[in-house]
Amino acid sequence: MVIKHHFPLKEHNTFGISAFAKAYTAPASVQELKEALGYYHDQDIFLLGGGSNMLLINDVQQPVIHVLLKGIEVTKSTENHIYVNVMAGENWHDFVLYCIEKNFAGIENLSLIPGNVGTSPIQNIGAYGVELQDSFDSCNVIDIKTLEEKTLSLADCKFGYRDSIFKNEAAGKYVITSVTFKLTNLNKTDDYQLKTGYGDLKEELNRLGGDPSIQKVSQAVIHIRSSKLPDPKILGNSGSFFKNPVIKRSVYEDLLRMHSAMPSYQVDEEHVKVPAGWLIDQSGFKGKRYGDAGVHDKQALVLVNHGKATGKEILEVAHKVQNAVYDLYGIKIDTEVNLIDH
Ligand code: EPU
Repeated sequence: MVIKHHFPLKEHNTFGISAFAKAYTAPASVQELKEALGYYHDQDIFLLGGGSNMLLINDVQQPVIHVLLKGIEVTKSTENHIYVNVMAGENWHDFVLYCIEKNFAGIENLSLIPGNVGTSPIQNIGAYGVELQDSFDSCNVIDIKTLEEKTLSLADCKFGYRDSIFKNEAAGKYVITSVTFKLTNLNKTDDYQLKTGYGDLKEELNRLGGDPSIQKVSQAVIHIRSSKLPDPKILGNSGSFFKNPVIKRSVYEDLLRMHSAMPSYQVDEEHVKVPAGWLIDQSGFKGKRYGDAGVHDKQALVLVNHGKATGKEILEVAHKVQNAVYDLYGIKIDTEVNLIDH
């Protein structure tokens, strides 16, 4: 096991924040991962994946274990479905492209989401009317304390909007080593419903013309995302910094009297979700910049690092935004990104 000290994490977080790991190791196999977990059994560890959903506020004092396990394998094929097991360290978008190429349907709407496969279940990644849970079969995990290997089913993971067991009762309990997806094999069946209902996506597909297909949906999503969301290689960011707040319908109706243009998505009979991007935009923050920390000029839901911003500076902008939205609308917006301060 190779341990590196004072290891730079700038290249390993999509915000591009300069911070260091006191100790860092990158196991390349499940066996090596177990060795590292055993070695640090008496300490709290910090698990790093694609680094796409976190803000490093300080140097990381806990030992960092970077999960880079690679491999994609078809494990089962039924009449209409194909089961694909993907190791945690595979890049999410590369896996989406693999599926598009093989004609496996289910995750095309999730094209271009940054991050790795192993962290995708934690926040049940979602976009354009589709969530990870729709194609999730199971995941393999290691229990950090006992080093026991387990398989968790769809029901075990208790998925919700940007939520799962890994953020709640099982937080810090497991390392996800691989995820198995259940996808529709379009080489064998055409019994599959594309999800094209989401406003922007429908428009983009019309623009592309021709019969919709998983290839077209992926192309359309890539086009929409790249026009609104900054490429982390060019402008540091972690996608949506905030979650869309869920509020009571009665509260929403009161707010509508004063803010008649406020959009909403139905959650259930009694609740609606309000786009945080709209709230932040209306609060006047779109494109605002404080030194190198700021709010993206094309999508107010995204905070950006223009170069040398520190995690603390990004966090200060986040607080300004949260306070302004609260003062104007009385709505609290929570962060979607994990704030790393230990
Ligand atoms: N809006 C504004 N100004 C802005 C941004 C948005 O007025 O600066 C308005 C839009 O006009 C629209 C509404 O807010 O009426 C919703 O905006 P949009 O569809 O762009 O984003 P969203 O629904 O808030 C969610 C996810 C995204 C995902 C998109 C597409 C969350 C927190 N975000 O955004 O996820 O790509 O839907 O499905 O649920 C991510 O998690 O990193 C991410 C980008």
